Amino acid sequence: MKVFKYSILFSTIFAASTQAETLTRDNGAAVGDNQNSYTAGEQGAVFLQDVQLIQKLQRFARERIPERVVHARGTGVHGEFVASKNISDLTFASVFEKGKKTPVFVRFSTVIHGKGSPETLRDPRGFATKFYTDDGNWDLVGNNLPVFFIRDAIKFPDMVHSLKPSPVTNQQDPNRFFDFFSHVPESTHMLTWVYSDYGTPANLRQMDGFGVHAYKMINEENKVSYVKFQWKSQQGINNLNASEAAEIQGKDFSHATRDMYTAIEKGNYPKWDLYVKVLSPSQLNDFDYNPLDATKRWLDVPETKVGTMTLNRVPDNFFQETEQSAFAPANLVPGIEPSEDRLLQGRVFSYADTQMYRLGANHQQLPINRARVPVTNWNQDGQGNQGNQTSDVNYQPSRLDPRTESLEGRYSAMPLSGNYQQKAISKQQPFAQAGVLYRSFSKEEQDNLISNLAGDLGKVRDDETRHIMLSHFYQADKNYGTRLAKAVGGDLRKVKNLVAM
Ligand code: HEM
Repeated sequence: MKVFKYSILFSTIFAASTQAETLTRDNGAAVGDNQNSYTAGEQGAVFLQDVQLIQKLQRFARERIPERVVHARGTGVHGEFVASKNISDLTFASVFEKGKKTPVFVRFSTVIHGKGSPETLRDPRGFATKFYTDDGNWDLVGNNLPVFFIRDAIKFPDMVHSLKPSPVTNQQDPNRFFDFFSHVPESTHMLTWVYSDYGTPANLRQMDGFGVHAYKMINEENKVSYVKFQWKSQQGINNLNASEAAEIQGKDFSHATRDMYTAIEKGNYPKWDLYVKVLSPSQLNDFDYNPLDATKRWLDVPETKVGTMTLNRVPDNFFQETEQSAFAPANLVPGIEPSEDRLLQGRVFSYADTQMYRLGANHQQLPINRARVPVTNWNQDGQGNQGNQTSDVNYQPSRLDPRTESLEGRYSAMPLSGNYQQKAISKQQPFAQAGVLYRSFSKEEQDNLISNLAGDLGKVRDDETRHIMLSHFYQADKNYGTRLAKAVGGDLRKVKNLVAM
């Protein structure tokens, strides 16, 4: 058998990109007939011996892997991040050394709807970036909106169950998710974002990205700072109103992916500037909310630009790259750590865990997920292992293999006091920033928000649920709650009584 183009080097025969001139089976042997099964004569039975037939059917039946439990629909793009400012006072992470270029892979996604759903549907958009840094991979797994619905990971499966289609009807139902959210006043801020036109971005290029949580940055002197990340689109922001979204949906249910692929094909590479907001540990007490609460923005905290990302190449293969990409808040590098935000702490566990189920224990060895630096530890074996363990020392410490840990990988130290407890945070402030957001909207944005929200809240049959939701929006802003009550035929006296209670 001839190997197409590169037959000389033994090593290239093993390269994934090597293509044979004619069809082969998975073992590399030639296929003789890919159109007719091997049969016993004209009318006779089909032989089990026809390995090509059997293998083709077997492999076809195994093409699907579990879709992501959330963020199933996505678009991946390669690019580069260039650090633009010396922030060694904040972190020693090499990705932020001024002028440093780091390859990235970004996956944009919708959250709740399944893998084949239209890209026009109302939803936050995922904005996950994998930086292949000199210190290992760093994943900044964010959204296009600055806050989240809940502040504790223990609520996440219930929230997602309520938002996903009903286990009985297999349809998404506002009766179910507003039933849930009526018990979660801190969701008012995020619901205001999602039901505004920010819940239907016009495409993936014209939206910002937010890390949402506070992270910690650590510098050479072990000084800890709290930071929040924001990607700001150089393309500006562009959202759809409900009728624009419906019109596009009728014509093209992949409009956002198409827009991204077309822009890159034309050399119109989208760019985002990365900004950080910084608080010292002692400043965490300076606010009337908890800055480690993921339902809050750090309003009025100054921001600094630290670099720019350019996306310039679409994947060669959607499944191998976009589908098999695995972003995890656990993928951090020395100099960047999670904060104590209890939503983030849950995420640090959850993503790596689901990826071991979705892609297997060795998913970090897949080319799209593989670190660009050598990986050495004694995690071993498991399905699909492509490691290159050649030594018989697979334990540590050892005199035979003296490799040890490095100091820069140690977690930061901070003082600790208090009790073991299971208790909600203090300074919850569930409504104030939703009000700030509502009042920051233009008249048209407010009108669209009311009409988008009334469309779903108006479908809620349970009178108490509807009025509790109205009381949340009323507490964010009286005008907001009053207009919404009118739009869904609510009773404003009931709303005010609930507020008084
Ligand atoms: C405790 C809260 C949360 C939990 C338990 C959680 C869990 C998950 C899980 C299990 C996945 C699927 C991962 C995979 O199969 O590869 C996922 C995807 C994702 N989540 Fe979360 N999530 C939480 C909150 C958030 C928040 C607050 C954000 C935004 C800041 C976010 C952004 C994303 C993104 C962007 C993806 C898709 C990553 C990709 O493109 O592959 N999630 N989440």
